[in-house]
Amino acid sequence: MASSCSSKAGSPHPLASTRRKATPKIVLLLAVASALALWASTSTLFWARLEAASRIQNVPINAQEILAQCISLRAIPGPPQDFHSREVSDRYEPGTNATLIKNAMIFTGEKNGSVVIHGNIFLDKGIVKSIGKVPQYVLDRAGPNVTVLDAKGAWVTPGLVDLHSHLGLLSAPVLAGATDLNAVHGPIEPWLRSIDGFNTRDDSFELAIAGGVTSAQVLPGSGNAIGGQAFVIKLRKTSEGSPTSMIIEPPDTFTGSKSRNDKIRWRYLKQACGENLRRYGNRMDSMWALRSAYNEARKVKHAQEAFCAKAEAGLWDTAGNIFPGDLKWEALVDVLRGRVKITSDCYEVVDLDDVVRLSNEFEFPIASFQSASEAWLVPELVKKTWGGAAGIALFATNHRSKRESFRGSEFAPRVLADAGIPVIMKSDHPFMNSRYLLYEAQQAHYFGLPANLSLAAVTSTPATIAGLSHRIGYLREGTDADVVMWDSHPLQLGATPVKVWIDGILQIPVPSKTDAPTNVEVGKGKEDDEWREEPDVPNWDKERKEAIKWEGLPPLGSKHKKSIAVFSNVKTVWTMGPDGYVQAAFTANAEEEMGTVVVEDGQMTCAGTSCIALVEGTDVIDLHGGSISPGLMTFGSSLGLEEIAKEPSTGDGQPYDAFAHNVPDILDDPGAVLRAMDALMFGTRNALTAYRSGVTLATSSLGKAYYLDGTGAHVISGLSATFRTGAAHAMEPEAIVQDIAALHIHIGRPHPLIGEGVSVSTQIAALRRLLFGWETKAKETGHWFRKAAEGVVPLVVEVENADIMAMLLILKIEVEDTIGSRMRMVFSGASEAHLLAKEIGDAGVGVILRPARPFPSTWDQRRILPGPPLTNDTALVKLLDHGVTVALGVREAWEARNTRFDIQWAVLESNGKIDRRQMHALAYTNLPKLLGVREDEGESQRAVDMVAYDRGGAFDFSSKVVAVISSERQQVDLF
Ligand SMILES: *[C@@H]1O[C@H](CO)[C@@H](O)[C@H](O)[C@H]1NC(C)=O
Ligand SMILES: *[C@@H]1O[C@H](CO)[C@@H](O)[C@H](O)[C@H]1NC(C)=O
Ligand SMILES: *[C@@H]1O[C@H](CO)[C@@H](O)[C@H](O)[C@H]1NC(C)=O
Repeated sequence: MASSCSSKAGSPHPLASTRRKATPKIVLLLAVASALALWASTSTLFWARLEAASRIQNVPINAQEILAQCISLRAIPGPPQDFHSREVSDRYEPGTNATLIKNAMIFTGEKNGSVVIHGNIFLDKGIVKSIGKVPQYVLDRAGPNVTVLDAKGAWVTPGLVDLHSHLGLLSAPVLAGATDLNAVHGPIEPWLRSIDGFNTRDDSFELAIAGGVTSAQVLPGSGNAIGGQAFVIKLRKTSEGSPTSMIIEPPDTFTGSKSRNDKIRWRYLKQACGENLRRYGNRMDSMWALRSAYNEARKVKHAQEAFCAKAEAGLWDTAGNIFPGDLKWEALVDVLRGRVKITSDCYEVVDLDDVVRLSNEFEFPIASFQSASEAWLVPELVKKTWGGAAGIALFATNHRSKRESFRGSEFAPRVLADAGIPVIMKSDHPFMNSRYLLYEAQQAHYFGLPANLSLAAVTSTPATIAGLSHRIGYLREGTDADVVMWDSHPLQLGATPVKVWIDGILQIPVPSKTDAPTNVEVGKGKEDDEWREEPDVPNWDKERKEAIKWEGLPPLGSKHKKSIAVFSNVKTVWTMGPDGYVQAAFTANAEEEMGTVVVEDGQMTCAGTSCIALVEGTDVIDLHGGSISPGLMTFGSSLGLEEIAKEPSTGDGQPYDAFAHNVPDILDDPGAVLRAMDALMFGTRNALTAYRSGVTLATSSLGKAYYLDGTGAHVISGLSATFRTGAAHAMEPEAIVQDIAALHIHIGRPHPLIGEGVSVSTQIAALRRLLFGWETKAKETGHWFRKAAEGVVPLVVEVENADIMAMLLILKIEVEDTIGSRMRMVFSGASEAHLLAKEIGDAGVGVILRPARPFPSTWDQRRILPGPPLTNDTALVKLLDHGVTVALGVREAWEARNTRFDIQWAVLESNGKIDRRQMHALAYTNLPKLLGVREDEGESQRAVDMVAYDRGGAFDFSSKVVAVISSERQQVDLF
C-alpha cells in the first residue's frame, strides 16, 4: 500500500481536473506533498515522516466516512462469513411451515451435478436444513408445524435458475403500456437498472414457476451495447409485494442496511453485440462505444485509487474531502474492480473475439456469453476471456432465425462441455417461454450433453455463474429452500413439477383463493419405474464431428438408394390403414422375434419375421429394435419459403397487403391472393433438418408469424402449398405434393407494439363480403373465397381470441345458410379455442393449436388453458372432448424438427386422456385432413412416406431417424 501511495502521489494529480477550483495555494501544497511523498518513499523513515506530515494536515470532518468508503473499494463480493451459520433465511416469511420430504431421489447439483442422494430433505425457516438422513434433533428444533410428504422415490431438484430472462420487462400479455425492455437513448447505458422497469403484473411468473423455474436473472434487452444493470430475482410473490423484495440479494443501497466492509453483493450488467445494435451503427461503432465507456470508468477508478491512497496516507490537504465518483460510471467502475457479473449477448465469432479483446484490454471477466451461437466453434477463444472462460448460455434447437445464429448447433452444448467450458441452457423469456426451460436441458441431453451437466445447466451452473451458489441452484445444507419435485426423471420429455417450493413456501400446487379445489392431477400414466430413469438417448458422435468439420454447416443431404434396402431388428411397423387410421403392420412380440423389412424401389414388399431369406447378400440397416412409421407433416411456419427469417434477401419478400395498400394494377386482383407454391425454396437448412427428424411433408402459407419484436400479419395470406421437405428442387418427381392446399387469412387485433393493422371489424366485414360472393369470380380473390364459401377448399383462419372465433362461427352459419354449403373452416393459433370447445365442435370447425403449448403473448391469447400442474385439462384435451378435429402446428421454421416431441409431450400432459388412436390421428392424419392435403383417399395409402427410427419409436427420446422410405419417389433416403 505504501508503494502505491507514493508512486501515485508523485504522478500528475488525477483529481486536479475534477476539482472545482485549483487555487495556486493548493497547487503549491500539492507539489510540496508530492515531492515529500516521493522523497519519503525512498526513505527508510517513510512512516515516521508520513506521520509527521499528517500532523499538519487539515483532517476533514467526514474523514471516517471517506476512509470507510476507501476500504469498501477492496471488499470482495460474496456471502458474508456468517452466512453459512444462518438459522433463518432473510427471505423467510413467518408462518411458513417446515417441510419434510421423505424418500426422494435428490439431484443436489454438487460435483457438476453428479451427486444424487436417495433420502430425505428437510426445509425450515426458508433454508435446506438437512439432506439425506435427517436427524431427529433437527426435526425437533422446527417445532410442531412440520408438513411431512412422502415423495415415493420421485425426483427432487433445486429450483431451476433461468440466467436469461426478461420477466416483468416484457410482460405477458404484451401491452405497449408495460414494455420496458430496450432503452433507445444510446448504445451505452450502464446507469439503467432493470429493476426500475420490473413489473410484477406479468402472467409469466405463475407459468414459469409451473415449469419449476424459481429464480431468474432479469436482463435489459439486447438493443444496447450496455443495456443496463440486471438483477437476480425469485419468482414468488413476496408478502411485501414489491419488485425490490423479489431480488435475491439486493444491494445495501436498496435496503438501507449498513454496508459491511468485508463483503459486498454481486452486481450484474447486460452487454450485447452485433446485429441487435444496428440502431447505433455497425460492429465497429459498438466496440468503440464500449471501449470509450470503459475508458471513462477507468479514469474514475484511477481517480478513486489516487484519492484513497492519499487519504489513507493522511495527506488530506492534497486529497481533499470529496470522494471522486460519478453515478453514471460507477457500475462500470465496479466492473473494473471485478465485482460485476456480466452477461454479454454475442453470437458470432467476430463478436466473441471483440468482447474477449475488450475484457483483456480493460481487465475484467465476463460471466457468460449468451446466445453465443458460434462459441462452440471457437472454445479456445472463449477460454481467453480475461480471468478465465466465460460460461456459454444457449438454446438447444432454436437456431437459424438470423444470420448470427445460422451456425448454431444442437451439438454445441456437448462440444463446449468437452472443452471444459461451463454450459447453461436459457430461455430468453418471453422469446422462449421460461416455463419450458427444462426442455432446453432435455434436448441438450438428447443431442449428447451428459445427464449431470444437462441438469446442472439449468440449476447449479447458472447459479455458480451468477455468484449465488450459496443460495440457489444446489440442494445442500444451508442453501435457500427452492425445491421442485417432478413427476418423472427431469430429463424425460414432458417432465412436470408436482410440487414447487420457493424459500420453503409451497407455490405449486397453487394455493386456492376460493373454496374450489386446486389439486391438479400431474403425471398420471408415469407410474412405471422406467419414468424414474434417465432416458436413453441416441449416439450423435458422427453428426457432431461432421458439424465441427463443416463449421456449423454440415451437408444435410442424404444418400439415395434406388433398388433394394433391408431393415433388420425392427420392432414395429406402422402403416396407414384403409380407414385412414394408422395400424400396426408388424409388431415383435419379444426381443428374439424382431422383424425384417424389405424395401424394393421404395415399396415395402415384406415386413415380418420370415423376410430374411429373400435378401441374402444385401446391405442390411440394423434398427436395434427401432420402428418404421409414417412421416409427419408440419404447418404454421415459413418453412420452405425462406432460409433465414430475419434476412429479407433469403426469402420471398413482402407480399402486398390489400388492407394496407392498393394492390398494383399488374396483379389485377383486389385481394392479392398469392400462392405459396410460387415462393417455394428447396433445400433450406430448416427443411432438411425437419426431414432428418421424420417430418417429410410441410404445408406452408405466406402468412407470417406474428412476432413480438415487430412484424404483424397480413389479413389475406394466400394459398398454401404442400411439399416434400427432403426434395432438392421443385421439379424433382413428387417434390410438390399439392400446389394449392387451403386458403389462409389472419383475423386479429393490432400489434401491441407497432399498433398497425386495420380493425377487427374491418377484417370481418371484408371477409363477409368475400364469402358472400360479392367479389367477381373472374379474379383470384373472388374465385378462391367463393371456393372457400362452398367448402371446396378449407379456409384456415389464424385467430387467437375467443370473441373473434365466435364471430367467425356466426359468419360461417350465415354463409352456409345463404349458399347452402358446408364450409371447411379451421382455426389456427387458437389459444382461446378451449373457451368455445363445444361451439367449435358443433360447428365442425377444426383447430390447429399453434404453438403446441400455449403462451399468452398478446391480449388476444391471454386466456390460455395452461394444463398441469395449473389445470387438469389442456386445450387439446378439452377440444377432443367436444369432438373437434385437432392438430398441432409451429410458428418458426426451426421448430418443425421437434414435431415428434411436441406430439409426445401433448399426449403425456393429457394424463392418459389421449389414447394411441387419438395420438396417431394427431400425428399423421388430422393435419392433412384439416389443410385439405391428399384428399383423394385412394391415393393416400400409396402416397405416405415412411420413416425408419433407430432404437425406438417415432416419439421416443431414445430414437433417431436413419432413413425415409418413399414409394412415390421410388427410393430410400439414408442419413
Ligand atoms: C402452526 O400452525 C398453526 C396453524 O396454521 C398456527 O396457528 C401456528 O401459529 C403455527 N405455529 C408456529 C410456531 O408457526
Ligand atoms: C402447518 O402445520 C400445522 C400443524 O401440522 C397444520 O395444522 C397446518 O395446516 C399447516 N399449515 C399449512 C399451510 O400447511
Ligand atoms: C383434477 O382432477 C382430479 C382427478 O380427477 C380431481 O380430484 C381434482 O379435483 C381436479 N382438480 C380441479 C381443479 O378440478
